[in-house]
Amino acid sequence: MTVAGSQNGTSRSVNGVRFETVLGDITEQRVDAIVNAANSSLMGGGGVDGAIHRAGGPDILAACRVLRETRLPAGLPTGDAVVTTAGRLPARHVIHTVGPVWSRREDRTPLLRSAYSRSLEVAGEVGAASIAFPAISAGVYGWPMNDAARVAVATCFEGARDVAGPELVRFVLFSPDALAAFDRELASAAV
Ligand code: APR
Repeated sequence: MTVAGSQNGTSRSVNGVRFETVLGDITEQRVDAIVNAANSSLMGGGGVDGAIHRAGGPDILAACRVLRETRLPAGLPTGDAVVTTAGRLPARHVIHTVGPVWSRREDRTPLLRSAYSRSLEVAGEVGAASIAFPAISAGVYGWPMNDAARVAVATCFEGARDVAGPELVRFVLFSPDALAAFDRELASAAV
């Protein structure tokens, strides 16, 4: 499968779910849902967050504002996920999740796992057959890329057992090093 504007990495099927890696821009992915590495405010930011709002247009932020004014007055908790329109993006939905900031003192792995597992649950709720993830927390939030890849792949492999989940899970990486880290995990992770 060629993805517009991306260089294909590797792929592997687990429990009937196809996992793949690509080097590219998550805003260009032609999947049902793309995942935004957001912050709790849902009011945008840099990195993936900035790219999605720039490319998707104002409808995404407008939908985030409604969420903040209704269901999420205190913001989206770390490790949780919510869905909005994808605006002008090729995808149908944006699933916003908040990854944990890396900490040397405290093991926040459960929160990073939750960001992936909750995003998969939300994808199942909206009937998304395909989902694209960035390397959550591995940018501004400072999570070491190798460990970010390990947590991402292991959590999504576990999620593959959930029949309501997507049939295609794509990891969209923004640098060759990130692609290499995710390819190593995709090739070696135990099911
Ligand atoms: N497509 C795919 N991956 C991207 C893109 C893009 N367009 N832009 C950046 N990335 C990569 C980064 O290189 C990094 O590997 O996504 C990964 C996650 O980086 P961030 O976007 O910085 O996300 P995160 O580390 O989770 O930090 C979230 O950053 O932008 C703010 O508002 C956001 O406060 C939140 C914080």
